[in-house]
Amino acid sequence: MQFFGVPFTVFGDDSLQYLNTILGKRAFIVTDNNIIKLGLADLVTTELKKANIECKIFDGVEPDPSIETVVKAAGIAKDFKPDWVIGLGGGSSMDAAKSALVGYAAGIGPLDLAPSTFYDLRATAKLMCIPTTSGTGSEATWAIVLTDVAGQRKMGLGSYETMPDIAILDPRMVMSMPPQITGDTGMDALCHAIEGYVSTWRTQFTDGPGLVAIKLTFENLKKAYDNGKDEDARKAMMYAASMAGTCCTNGMFGLGHSTGHAVGGLFHTPHGRAVGLYLTYTMEYLINGSGETTSRYAEIARFCNISRDNDDKKCAKALVEAVRKLAKSVGQPLSVKDCNIKREDYIKQMEGLVDRSINELMTSAVTRVPESEDLVKLFTYAYDGKSVDF
Ligand SMILES: [Fe+2]
Repeated sequence: MQFFGVPFTVFGDDSLQYLNTILGKRAFIVTDNNIIKLGLADLVTTELKKANIECKIFDGVEPDPSIETVVKAAGIAKDFKPDWVIGLGGGSSMDAAKSALVGYAAGIGPLDLAPSTFYDLRATAKLMCIPTTSGTGSEATWAIVLTDVAGQRKMGLGSYETMPDIAILDPRMVMSMPPQITGDTGMDALCHAIEGYVSTWRTQFTDGPGLVAIKLTFENLKKAYDNGKDEDARKAMMYAASMAGTCCTNGMFGLGHSTGHAVGGLFHTPHGRAVGLYLTYTMEYLINGSGETTSRYAEIARFCNISRDNDDKKCAKALVEAVRKLAKSVGQPLSVKDCNIKREDYIKQMEGLVDRSINELMTSAVTRVPESEDLVKLFTYAYDGKSVDF
């Protein structure tokens, strides 16, 4: 038995108008202060009020939300008793909304969420996500990433019940994204789709959204980065991010995420920038030891017209170079030394980096599972920007 889950997805111009058709009494909106300042929360509450839905906003979500923040949000939700919990913002706000629903409806802390337990969260409230960035794909995944601040560790949580019921992809919400965030989050989307496409958990259902997401990203990310007012590129990236989320949440993330998470937890590198950077090094690592994944990369390269070579390895390597070229064109660092991380600090944390990576479930969902020694080498090569030759 296998599963494939997606939210009911409303997308395209004026998608927010869908909000005035939903049924309910109270909506609890989980967001951050910047979304309020940009006027994006007003766009949402205006539509909800037309449906006679009372709104309460929690705007205290910080980047890389902490356990304390989501527990606080759940407490406010308990008092307000919403029948909708809405995550509005980037991945942080959407993940915080998922956690708030768990705390409110199941009465448990986020770390007590067991993936295989049925909590019947919908008996209390439904979950909606409205992204304002194009990358995390959290609106289309059950995944929650929270930060253990004291332990300097990012934790991936989730269950089938933390998949949103509805995702609304309205391009108005992403038009004001600055270039740096466009680049960072776009690389996250690319990483989700490529890793999901080669994951050992992949299925025929994840292949389609994965391939289309990768192609859309190659064709549109730089356009959206260069000209944020390019509506077609913005829309394409919004859809790509959601499809990439569908691919990796129904498949699995990979080594770019497990290594990138480790660095993000210890050095606070933005998520998309970190996973995008490690993506190419971990791709090389898989090419060097897995014919199966090399062939999958070759399929991507051919589908995206990156290479038509009959030789899988040449196609796969062309894909790695295409990822690097795209990353560079959208302001991404190609090595860790370009991330303002001092060599001595990085080396000092090597044990922690490896420990965090090896303990991520996604590290085992690839066709060449690294041991600690290989991870040390991978981290070292990525610091220096050296192609992986082992
Ligand atoms: Fe990600």
